[in-house]
Amino acid sequence: HVENPQGKFRVISTKPMPGTKWIETLVSVGCRVEICQAAKTILTEDDIEELIGNRCDGVIGQLTENWGERLFSALARAGGKAYSNMAVGYNNVDVEAATRHGISVGNTPGVLTETTAELAAALTMATARRVVEADDFMRAGKYEGWLPSLFVGNLLKGQTVGIIGAGRIGSAYARMMVEGFKMNLIYYDLYQSTRLERYITAYGHFLESQGEKPVTWKRAATPDEVLKEADVISLHPVLDKTTYHLINAQRLATMKKAAILINASRGPVVDEVALVEHLKANPQFRAGLDVFEDEPYMKPGLKDLPNAVVVPHIASASKWTREGMAMLAASNVAFRLKGCPVWSNPNA
Ligand code: DGY
Repeated sequence: HVENPQGKFRVISTKPMPGTKWIETLVSVGCRVEICQAAKTILTEDDIEELIGNRCDGVIGQLTENWGERLFSALARAGGKAYSNMAVGYNNVDVEAATRHGISVGNTPGVLTETTAELAAALTMATARRVVEADDFMRAGKYEGWLPSLFVGNLLKGQTVGIIGAGRIGSAYARMMVEGFKMNLIYYDLYQSTRLERYITAYGHFLESQGEKPVTWKRAATPDEVLKEADVISLHPVLDKTTYHLINAQRLATMKKAAILINASRGPVVDEVALVEHLKANPQFRAGLDVFEDEPYMKPGLKDLPNAVVVPHIASASKWTREGMAMLAASNVAFRLKGCPVWSNPNA
């Protein structure tokens, strides 16, 4: 599908994206916009190289694509100046390779913060209160009447929520759990972000001014401290060498028996095989997962475990957010083609 065929710059989007504003933005700066309509969900490097062809000024790509040396050199040969990932995470992008080839990289932070945090909160409630198990039970016609012990789960109020990775999304999730459920907080942030500390201090003053009991909070010195002390742990770090398999068998063993682990960051932050074993051995332990090590696959055994809630990487999937991500991704490319720095640029 091609918009504005006469446009001066050739820009490709490897997938159709929601809304039309992103197309209008690119057209307004003189782009011919080509939207790949391939039926397959995941494009290979061969597919993308073919799309780039001999002449391409910019590309909007997806987190399912491997943007490394091969594609950036193809894009540079075709005269490309900009690549934008329609995602905040860019672990699928070799930013150094892009920089070597003079290509600016963009991503889409900010617009997906609240939506992603809300999904992490939804997974927390679904796992704590066994919503999916109970739904399956009803649909299977097994409900015979109210029982004192039917689907007893965990109360969140007054328990401790632990955050690993207290950036934009981790902090938004923490706010939801602290304000919404009056949970106490412990958090660890590799980059020593003070975002959450500033918020929680102000919130504590607010509660005090209302005559309410303040929640307790603590900045942990290590992720291990969070894992040992929290009842609910939500993972929000970026995926890199230091966070690969951050949650492994040893660390799972240090967590509380009835803890809840939420992952809406990147699958490989958790050793999924170890998690499956842990869930099997500890029926009271629960996991809420939006992401998986080898998407679109789940590790064997996971789908049969009632103490796991699994959804297909939908944390940013609200209409407003997805349109915002498309718009940001397009703006990144448009800015660069007009000679400005891209809006959000990991290789600035
Ligand atoms: C991201 O943006 O990195 C998410 O995983 C998809 O929204």
